[in-house]
Amino acid sequence: MKGPFQAVKVTDKVYWVGAIDWDIRDFHGYATSRGTTYNAYLVMADKPTLIDTVKAQFHDELMARIASVCDPKSIKYVVSDHSEMDHSGCLPQLLELVKPEKVFASAMGVKALQAHFHWDTQVQAVKEGEVLDLGGESLRFMETRMVHWPDSMFSYLEGAGILFSNDGFGMHLASDLRFDDETPDWRYEAAKYYANILLPFSDIVLAVLDKVAKSGIKPRMIAPDHGPIYRKDMARIVSLWEGWARQKPANKAVVVFDTMWGSTDKLARTIADSLIEAGVHTVVMPLRGSHRSDVATELLEAGALLVGSPTINKQMFPTVADCLSYLKGLRRKNLVGAAFASYGWAGESVKLVQDALTEMGVATVEPLKCQYVPDAAALEAARGLGQKVAAKLKEALR
Ligand code: FEO
Repeated sequence: MKGPFQAVKVTDKVYWVGAIDWDIRDFHGYATSRGTTYNAYLVMADKPTLIDTVKAQFHDELMARIASVCDPKSIKYVVSDHSEMDHSGCLPQLLELVKPEKVFASAMGVKALQAHFHWDTQVQAVKEGEVLDLGGESLRFMETRMVHWPDSMFSYLEGAGILFSNDGFGMHLASDLRFDDETPDWRYEAAKYYANILLPFSDIVLAVLDKVAKSGIKPRMIAPDHGPIYRKDMARIVSLWEGWARQKPANKAVVVFDTMWGSTDKLARTIADSLIEAGVHTVVMPLRGSHRSDVATELLEAGALLVGSPTINKQMFPTVADCLSYLKGLRRKNLVGAAFASYGWAGESVKLVQDALTEMGVATVEPLKCQYVPDAAALEAARGLGQKVAAKLKEALR
């Protein structure tokens, strides 16, 4: 009789032995509204090899899946492609139980694992291009520093042509469906993952894509550590990543705002309407109900960012400050935009938002400020702001 938590066969010799996290809704500030998976892989070579582990709380699930394929104690090699705890969390317990002959990581990974676990375990550093003989199979390592941690690396199983890409090409999506061709509508989650995790490292992503393309390897599958395994349409995710990394502006505006008594809301809707009238696809995101990570996702394929904030105690609204601080860290390039707000007394928030946008490198038009409830003239000015941003965007798209 089959036990619980079975492995999933990827090829005759490769198994998915990861865990499904149906519960997680926050991944260090990123709203994982559809949960995630932590993918780990078992390669049944003469030296059975485990590639990555899972978050510590899923240790039993990982071990059960391994046990559905082989005696966990028969694992000879463990490869850690990335030290972040969602992939390394089970390492100490697993190593204690399995006692593999060797553990491998990148040189930076060796240091990072030591700094996480303060252990006596000897982890062997592998270099860019080094090939590890697993007995009947071979694993080639490719450093992918800062995609997205200094220690990150890819491992490539040469015979089967599987690129174990760790966080690369991943997405947060809890599902029992393991492959891209079984998984409907994964594009949004892949974009969300790129926008919230990889965007600041886009130049490095382009260099890694180029390195993989020139390496001579011909992957038949890409097996990331989150989300589905690409076996049908690898070209799609690679081309999406390349486009996202280039950060070209698109004919789309994202209007982000919060409001105290509905006046900044009125400005936001009027500005959005004038952008739409000017032919710009526009998404309005009231921050009381839109998560910062969804704003970042909408912005990934946009060309304009417009931000409205009331003033509270001489500051911008807390939700707006939170969102701008987050977006600043993600460093989206090539945006035009504007700041706007209704205010009561001095209206400091408009300058604060304007300064934040300038610091983010957004090419702005003159900000808009209106006292209390917008009258016809203020709404006309809001329409004008939308038209100016639309014109600036059209210029940027030429
Ligand atoms: Fe999925 Fe960077 O950890």
